[in-house]
Amino acid sequence: PCKGSLIVVSNRLPFVLVRNEETQSLSRKASAGGLVTAVAPVVIRGNGLWVGWPGIQLTSEEEPIPESDPSDQTPTAGLKSSQVVSVNLDPKIFDSYYNGCCNKTFWPLFHSMPGRATFSSDHWKNYVTVNKHFAKRTIEALEKHHKNNKSNGTPIVWIHDYHLMLASNWVREQAEERKLECRMAFFLHIPFPPWDIFRLFPWSDEILQGMLGCDMVGFHIQDYCLNFVDCCQRNLGCRVDRNNLLVEHGGRTVRVRPLPIGIPYDRFVHLAETAEKVLKTSKMKIVLGVDRLDYTKGLVNRLQAFESLLVKYPEHRGKVSLLQISVPSRTDVKEYRELKEEVDQLVGRINGRFTTANWAPIRYIYDYVGQAELAALYRDAAVCLVTPLRDGMNLVAKEFVACQINKVPGVLVISPFAGAGEMMHEALQCNPYEIDDAAEVIHRALTMPEDERILRMSRLRSREQECDVNHWMRTFMKAMGTVEFDDIGTT
Ligand code: UDP
Ligand code: G6P
Repeated sequence: PCKGSLIVVSNRLPFVLVRNEETQSLSRKASAGGLVTAVAPVVIRGNGLWVGWPGIQLTSEEEPIPESDPSDQTPTAGLKSSQVVSVNLDPKIFDSYYNGCCNKTFWPLFHSMPGRATFSSDHWKNYVTVNKHFAKRTIEALEKHHKNNKSNGTPIVWIHDYHLMLASNWVREQAEERKLECRMAFFLHIPFPPWDIFRLFPWSDEILQGMLGCDMVGFHIQDYCLNFVDCCQRNLGCRVDRNNLLVEHGGRTVRVRPLPIGIPYDRFVHLAETAEKVLKTSKMKIVLGVDRLDYTKGLVNRLQAFESLLVKYPEHRGKVSLLQISVPSRTDVKEYRELKEEVDQLVGRINGRFTTANWAPIRYIYDYVGQAELAALYRDAAVCLVTPLRDGMNLVAKEFVACQINKVPGVLVISPFAGAGEMMHEALQCNPYEIDDAAEVIHRALTMPEDERILRMSRLRSREQECDVNHWMRTFMKAMGTVEFDDIGTT
């Protein structure tokens, strides 16, 4: 049993809706990702609610959400339509909020790439409007929850990510006014930048005040917590306690906590054990990359490093291939379209330079790959390259490690600029900005002796097994004062 229900608020619902052109009927399409697999089972079991955007324009917020398909095996399948509170917005306002403020401003700025960020008062205005609307729907969800669950403890309203940094104060005020008891938490899935970058945002005070509307604010790692505490002190003049990560604001004390997200480890092991082979030839060594096509992921640098490897160590030609999966992402934003062009051209140039009758250096997939196929690729790859220029955590690194069930495992190469790089000490570290050195690291990974691979991988696996997604949820619930929590299994 899970005492104290969760009301999760995130920009995206844990599924997207698809409308049949002919019948106009709606159906759900499951979406994967850490947040969904971790949080959905707790919402389902605790009879909680999920407030979010369904990925398409609804006729109205009252348009019924369909139940999941009976064949759906994903973690969200058990989420009843009565547990979903959809957010429907004017397309123009949504575009300015999502593509404008979220993806053109907060995403680059929080990833410490201010040169890519644009600052627009119009986008900001729409961000405020959308956050207010999410707050309104959250209050409606809270009212619904109080009506239906009179004896289920105090609910936790848990707001997620950079899309919704302002919502909490409106929720708090309305909840107090209507005597709807709740506790509130915020979790940021991306980095929180240092003060000298954060302060570039013209409305940075409002962002901090918004986040401080919660009782607890969580980040993946200690560094992001310290950056946040620092900003609260320097921007707002708050009294702070760096040792205990506390911020005083508006007569309340807000707890700041590092809560590094984990993956459903057992589920990935199970997938790796049961997934059919995808790579047909075992002679070719596969160097694997799996990313959304995003400039923070360091794809251009990675391709250049692979080219440098082939120049410096020609013995790998004909024997090693880079398999890069790039998932289309945020294609309404110019920067993402330009990156696609750049990557397409670079792949073409490198393949043109080295391809022979029997071998091509790079296999490039621009598509979404399902979890079972992904597990087979993780399992059978010799090396996995997780080399972002900056990344909040990076789940791919963790999933690769979980799927390494073969007797002689592969090697993880990781950038220190990913949150995951902080903890995965046994991986080979690689600074993606240093192209030639990155090539050396890939060479080292490809030629690492078996016993060293076994030792490194077994340590990496133990940590991910222990600090899995159940551990993350348990730590969160404990930090909020709710301790009863059932683990999720392999499905
Ligand atoms: N993923 C997937 N199919 C793909 C590529 C990625 O299901 O073709 C999943 C992957 O398994 C992981 C998530 O997308 O769970 C990516 O999370 P990560 O933290 O690495 O990066 P983000 O996209 O959140 O920046
Ligand atoms: C990151 C963010 C998530 C976001 C995901 C996909 O993981 O932290 O909040 O949902 O990227 O991006 P999208 O813009 O498609 O939701």
